[in-house]
Amino acid sequence: MKTDRILDDIKSRIDIVELVSDYIELKKAGQNYRANCPFHAEKTPSFMVSQSKQIFHCFGCGAGGDIFGFVMKYENLNFQEALKMLAKKAGVQLSGYGFEDGLTERKERLYVIQKEALNAFTGNLKKSKTAVAYLNKRGVSHEMVEAFSLGYADRGRKVLYQHLRTKGFDDLLITQSGLIFTGESGLHDVFRNRIMFPIFNIQGDAVAFGGRVIDDSMPKYLNSPETLLFKKSETLYGLNVAKDEIRKKGYVMITEGYLDVIMCYMHGFLNVVAPLGTALTTGHLQKIGRFTKKVLLVFDSDSAGIAAAKRSLSILYEHGFRSKVLLLPEGDDPDSFLRKNGSRAFQIKLSKSESMVDFILRLKGDKPDNVRTAIGIIDNAKDLILREELFKELAEKSGIREAVLRGETKKYEQKAGIAKTAGVARTAGFFYDEEVLLLSAIVAFPDRAPYIFAKLNIDRVCNPVVRQIFQEIKPSAERLNMNTMLGILNDEGKALITRLSLNPGFDIEHVDNNVRDCLRDMAYCEIEERIRLAKTAGDLRLLNSLLAEKQKIARRKDERTA
Ligand code: UTP
Ligand code: MN
Repeated sequence: MKTDRILDDIKSRIDIVELVSDYIELKKAGQNYRANCPFHAEKTPSFMVSQSKQIFHCFGCGAGGDIFGFVMKYENLNFQEALKMLAKKAGVQLSGYGFEDGLTERKERLYVIQKEALNAFTGNLKKSKTAVAYLNKRGVSHEMVEAFSLGYADRGRKVLYQHLRTKGFDDLLITQSGLIFTGESGLHDVFRNRIMFPIFNIQGDAVAFGGRVIDDSMPKYLNSPETLLFKKSETLYGLNVAKDEIRKKGYVMITEGYLDVIMCYMHGFLNVVAPLGTALTTGHLQKIGRFTKKVLLVFDSDSAGIAAAKRSLSILYEHGFRSKVLLLPEGDDPDSFLRKNGSRAFQIKLSKSESMVDFILRLKGDKPDNVRTAIGIIDNAKDLILREELFKELAEKSGIREAVLRGETKKYEQKAGIAKTAGVARTAGFFYDEEVLLLSAIVAFPDRAPYIFAKLNIDRVCNPVVRQIFQEIKPSAERLNMNTMLGILNDEGKALITRLSLNPGFDIEHVDNNVRDCLRDMAYCEIEERIRLAKTAGDLRLLNSLLAEKQKIARRKDERTA
């Protein structure tokens, strides 16, 4: 494909060791380079860069990839942006590869419009006594006005529109900005007589606005509609200012509103974000996941807050986020709580936040119902280690044996037709270690992939991460290498293969023997299971042929060990 060629071209001109050294200090360690991981807090370095393989991997947090993966993570860029940045650095012309298109140009113009509007709103605020008085009344300091670039939208119906026209933007682009709408008598400003909260993307460009009335009129808050620059379900208020602190503290606080974020920040809690009046979505979690996998939900304790917490916990655990909950006294959000009680009281509350299991078990209602709610959340979690921890905690705290709790999920697992936990997988006679070793062999010797895939029944691979990797790379088995694999796989997949690349876990001189042994052990195991089934079904003919087959495999096994 065309992109493959550009990627190879760029990679051939940028050395990963030099690139990473621009960001953090690397120390030589044997064949590789080592540093404290920039993606999670640690005291002893587990972040490795391999010059010969042109990859990085952190043995602490699992992050891994190539030069593109590194700048995406470090600079919080999407792939397109990383490509643009590294192409520039490498002196590779993307246009030569037919990469430019009208869309990018239109987006650039829309960014400029948002910036113009931002300047207009912040300018207005300085001139509006009522707006300043409102912010004073809400206890928002001048520093916060600056830090969050708060503004004010004028009362007039076309003030912003006319301003944008004088700046030379055409009506089509102006309407695409989401700031102006087409009414009966032409184009009008969307936001009028409101305190303006600019919404920034992670890079710090204004992409949309939220506006609050300064009286009791409705709706209280208005947000920009979705545009080319702004997707509500992928945007978190405050993330651009909070991101460094989130990394430093190791977790993010999620609140519900603009003023919650601002007031937390003002009181010294800088790792705070809020969705924009919507429930948490997968898109939000993808954004947060670049900085941390730990979340503290800080909500009001009314029934809406509790419902929101339950919903949020479910999606958070599904995506592998360890999460805690802090419910503030009924009627209080972080904003009002902080104003009434101050930072110390809030800090004390924070230290009393509850684990997911504690929170669910303490909910009003029947204990069995609550236990089942907790099991539902745990059962959604794809992360096997997290599931283990949660089952232990739930068993301990509910007083119900772990086996019983797991029994409730098996039904689900059987329905879905997959063996989900390591425990289940083992008893069915599958081999986690063997599966990983086969993958490791492919990573070290991609030319063995066609042979392995010819012998391996991927559907029977039970480690879900490994199975997915196999499924994704199998179509390219004939032309695999580290680049193609990193290009195909998601973050979880990249993390595993970069780890195996640096640390294969088997004696690579004996790769072919190892591969053969693995495949044979897995085949042997599969036969044994089929024999069990044939016995149960009383199918003697099948049983006989299976037993013969088993003997053949066993003989080959003996030959090898002899
Ligand atoms: P809340 O109604 O809890 O308001 O909405 P709040 O944040 O406490 O606001 P203040 O303290 O009265 O100023 C929480 C969030 O829901 C979204 C906004 O993002 C708000 O911050 N929202 C709320 C809307 O989008 N539209 C609305 O009409 C109300
Ligand atoms: Mn509030």
